Amino acid sequence: MKKVIEENNRRDFLKKCGLSTVPFLLPTVGLNAMSWSENNKIDLTNNPEVAVNFIYDGLELSPRQYIEKLTEIDQGESLEPDFYGNGGTTKELEERFAKLTGKEKAIYLPTGTMANQLAIKLLNGKNTKVIVPENSHIFKDEADASQSVHRLRLVPIGKDKSYFQLDDLVSTVKYINENEVFRSGLGTVVIENPIRRANGTAVPIETIKEVSAYCKNNGYKMHLDGARIHLASAFTNVSIEEYASYFDTVYVSLYKYLNANGGAMLCGDAEIIDQLSHQIKILGGTMFQNWNNTAIALHYLDGITERLNQVVVTANKLIDELNKIDGISISSTKNGTNIYNLKLANNISSKELTKKLFEEHNIRLRSGENGTVRFAVNESLLTRDLQGIINAWKTVANQLRK
Ligand SMILES: Cc1ncc(COP(=O)(O)O)c(C=O)c1O
Repeated sequence: MKKVIEENNRRDFLKKCGLSTVPFLLPTVGLNAMSWSENNKIDLTNNPEVAVNFIYDGLELSPRQYIEKLTEIDQGESLEPDFYGNGGTTKELEERFAKLTGKEKAIYLPTGTMANQLAIKLLNGKNTKVIVPENSHIFKDEADASQSVHRLRLVPIGKDKSYFQLDDLVSTVKYINENEVFRSGLGTVVIENPIRRANGTAVPIETIKEVSAYCKNNGYKMHLDGARIHLASAFTNVSIEEYASYFDTVYVSLYKYLNANGGAMLCGDAEIIDQLSHQIKILGGTMFQNWNNTAIALHYLDGITERLNQVVVTANKLIDELNKIDGISISSTKNGTNIYNLKLANNISSKELTKKLFEEHNIRLRSGENGTVRFAVNESLLTRDLQGIINAWKTVANQLRK
């Protein structure tokens, strides 16, 4: 019976997408992608049309590519829907994330913003203060949700720095204790890693260890905004499990490099995670079905560590070669992850470079002003032969140089 429902659901899905009659099931494997995949035994996008992009943290899947990917997944192992977040691929992904982070449980949420906010709210208990990095998503990019929805006071630290150090935390706590008469309590300390507003800088593991030990000694909980934690791990060689071990809760995005349309995972002790579904519902975040996000994330989670390790190696080779091209200079940042700075000589127009790379080679690059461009590497690097990418850059730079 279940099988029949699944089959009907699948057909219905295809019909709704207008795909039931088009020959989209034909293999779309590109030669380069195929040879790379065969040599490395790692799944690729299997789609030669995926642009090599130096813009995002993951693949830039078009709606059609996304649908094709879901279809391909469904043909391998039929897609299992969840029911209001329970069961199916959503449950499977939760189990995978719990294991990956070494935590008791994980839960799917519709957004990372909600994951961050609910984590600090629940960790904080009756305390009202949460210490957050001044340049963090929680402090700067979540519309003051902590203050307006959860009645928490965020205390920012580390202004004008990429990340705060133990000293900054200790002096902030001291300042609060010495200057506030009515103490309502500090409950949680947050670290974001890698740091979006510091061009993907990774917080050094030693700093995390020191802060974590101090928080444990003083009874403060810790939350990790690890939206892109796999990227940090690939570039620092610190495992996700090790990172997670210093925190009570860890949030990871499903759409930064796991290529889903949206969604987040929050991992932690059962005591916290078991409170989440009620809280998500209160905020109106309980969605009927989430498999369209979780199936894609689950698919790309398989082998992500190996692929990102390969991205690091490939990016190093690529950048070495691109730096040999006259007028192009790419540099990394201190404690950097996948984001570099691309500087162009005055005789190469950033706009023209972007246009030609895209129109003639399906390579996507940000267009910058003043000759400096943010240059991000990601899994799309592996979808094409490296020499082909290098040649495309050489050709376009030669055409443009005045
Ligand atoms: C570091 C960081 N944390 C949290 C989020 C929030 O994710 P969402 O867009 O799913 O709310 C983002 C998204 O850009 C992010 O970069």
